[in-house]
Amino acid sequence: MSTNQSSEPLTCRVNSAGNLEIGGCDTVELAKKYGTPLYVMDEYTIKSICADYKNAFKAYPKIRMMYASKALCTIATSKLLANEGFGFDAVSAGEIYTVYKAGVDMSNVLFNGNNKSFDELSLAIDLGVGRISVDNFTELEMLNEIALSKNKTVQILLRVTPGIECHTHEYIQTGHLDSKFGFDLTQIDGALELILNKYKNLELKGVHAHIGSQIFETKIYGDEVEILVKEIVRLNEKFNLNLNEINLGGGLGVKYTDADNPPSVQKIADVIISALNNAVQKYGIEAPLVYIEPGRSIISTAGVTLYTIGCEKQVPNGTKYIAVDGGMADNPRPSMYQALYSAKIANKPDCNENLQTVTIAGRFCESGDILIKNIQLPNPEKGDILCVFNTGAYNYSMASNYNRVQKSGMVLVNNSQSAIIVYRETLDDLISHDADELV
Ligand code: LLP
Repeated sequence: MSTNQSSEPLTCRVNSAGNLEIGGCDTVELAKKYGTPLYVMDEYTIKSICADYKNAFKAYPKIRMMYASKALCTIATSKLLANEGFGFDAVSAGEIYTVYKAGVDMSNVLFNGNNKSFDELSLAIDLGVGRISVDNFTELEMLNEIALSKNKTVQILLRVTPGIECHTHEYIQTGHLDSKFGFDLTQIDGALELILNKYKNLELKGVHAHIGSQIFETKIYGDEVEILVKEIVRLNEKFNLNLNEINLGGGLGVKYTDADNPPSVQKIADVIISALNNAVQKYGIEAPLVYIEPGRSIISTAGVTLYTIGCEKQVPNGTKYIAVDGGMADNPRPSMYQALYSAKIANKPDCNENLQTVTIAGRFCESGDILIKNIQLPNPEKGDILCVFNTGAYNYSMASNYNRVQKSGMVLVNNSQSAIIVYRETLDDLISHDADELV
């Protein structure tokens, strides 16, 4: 089994006190010590998925793993992933700056995005970001201007829409033809002509695509390899070039509930490697340098969120709501994508008595702020600690201050130790950017 196929952190177990334990730390004690809501990240699980990726792609040494930092970007996790040999896909000045501050080798950073600003591109060049994946004609022109003004040559990829549809939520599909991201394949030659004849400060290295996220299909990765390799071969012939890099993006899914059945990392790697070998033979080319950009599958399983159960409401002849002290501001995925999650009560994870079907409501002022509908829990009561699984990806990174509520803190656990990696916001943090002068 690979780590992304586990619905809980790999170190999750019930300890001698009868509580849920992660990384050797009692989650009820963590809740007491650091307060709730609390994101908890298990270092062992992160290292284990990194090992899965490294082992799975051993047979193809020309692979570069670029963790998609949009899934979770903090200094500590960036350091951890850099130590595991990962580079970074960054999509904003904020993500670039965070990995820079984490001491990451910036030549292993790739900058993506469909509307990068002048300032963001300048920062990327100044900090020595290794590749910029250019998304559209406007950006090509602007990037060349900035590079020219700094007397630098920037190595780029072209983001393309390969025309592959995957079966995931429509908001997280990206490779289909009508997507806002990247050049249509029919526009590539026009971009090439500009790069070769006009934009002399840009050096094209290859092409980049990303099909979508939370993907369970495997064959589409083979299709993607074939489309991208075919494209660089065509461009090399037509323009007499030597492009030899393809970036396949991310997308591998994780197991949020028992209904999810994501493929293993090895399975995805096998499909990709076999498609690469076929393409290399078919076109008689040197094996390309291949980037992959997994985000969710690297960081989701390692993370849980601890909440304290507060008030309850039993609708007469209807739903029983159990409210927790967080919700859509720390995890917007259920309200945005109808995402499903699983959970246990951390102080009685094994209890099978008095099971009730309840709906976990958040504390924010929206009817849609529901974390989990119709979950069976053993007599959930005020003061119990609820542990929601698989919250490592796209939770903290998408968190907001809705209702002027402080963002939750995050701790890293390993070998029975815990350390704060993101401080919980204080009330003063909340007002720290307000100015008090009136006009
Ligand atoms: N590369 C590119 C160019 C991307 O756009 C993305 C994700 C990734 C890599 C990483 O994909 P992953 O391995 O994480 O699937 N907020 C949504 C997910 C948005 C994904 C956007 N792009 C969610 O919570 O489900």
